[in-house]
Amino acid sequence: MAIAVITGASSGMGREFVRQIAEKYPKLQEIWVIARRKERLEELKSMTPVRLRIFDYDLTKERSIWDLERALYEKKPKIKLLVNAAGYGKIGHFRELTYQDNAGMIELNCRGLTAVTYACLPYMLPNGRIIQLASSAAFLPQPNFAVYAASKSYVLSFSRALGRELRDQKITVTAVCPGPVDTEFFDVAEQKGQTAYVKKLAMAKAPQVVAKALKDAACGKEMSVYGALMKGTHLAAKILPHRVLLSLMGIIF
Ligand SMILES: NC(=O)c1ccc[n+]([C@@H]2O[C@H](COP(=O)([O-])OP(=O)(O)OC[C@H]3O[C@@H](n4cnc5c(N)ncnc54)[C@H](OP(=O)(O)O)[C@@H]3O)[C@@H](O)[C@H]2O)c1
Repeated sequence: MAIAVITGASSGMGREFVRQIAEKYPKLQEIWVIARRKERLEELKSMTPVRLRIFDYDLTKERSIWDLERALYEKKPKIKLLVNAAGYGKIGHFRELTYQDNAGMIELNCRGLTAVTYACLPYMLPNGRIIQLASSAAFLPQPNFAVYAASKSYVLSFSRALGRELRDQKITVTAVCPGPVDTEFFDVAEQKGQTAYVKKLAMAKAPQVVAKALKDAACGKEMSVYGALMKGTHLAAKILPHRVLLSLMGIIF
């Protein structure tokens, strides 16, 4: 049974991945969708031609990972695509956010993503595609978004190294690194701090970012960066000293 597994499927880019993967991969027998809001996942059924299997899991809970492992062991599916889109960020000074907010980003963005990847890997098909939602925040440290940016640097570094390890198995890993995308992400992110106005001007649309990510993953690219502005940011982060960029960011934002 060929399937896709998509975390963070109840909204934003994860939801868009469900829609586009169902359209682009009609031979899939099931898409396994994971998020906490069950009713949101149920709603997806009416817009998706491929059969959905719903897992209303909190991926910060060890129990959810065990349950996923058990479901995989019982069905022994062949995973064509794994998309790890579950994640959140909280804007604000490190000390102004609660410890739970800060640690929770690591729990979900790093530990949850790693655990789901580890659980799914034995079932990945040769030529399978792993798509990990990192962020352009992975490119350099971000004061006022410190733990989030660090968690996404982890995702980027982990994904690139894993991609190399999996070369012989012909499984590719694509780290998706968008700038701001218009989703519910900001409802959570802005509870204590505000997104800089300049960043909001660069807001991309989820369908475009996801379409590019799927195309880049199909080509086996290790990174997917949407838009000229984010490509420029990536280049700048590679060639300029980060202390210079951090000072610039301090002026612009
Ligand atoms: N939007 C942006 O500007 C942006 C930019 C770069 C990267 N990203 C990254 O892209 C990914 C998708 O974000 P998005 O923009 O689509 O945001 P979103 O609309 O807020 O979606 C986040 C998803 O994560 C799920 N989630 C949150 N906590 C969870 C938990 N404890 N267990 C399981 N699932 C959980 C949410 O579902 P439930 O609430 O139902 O659990 C939701 O489906 C994230 O990793 C984010 O960091 C976003």
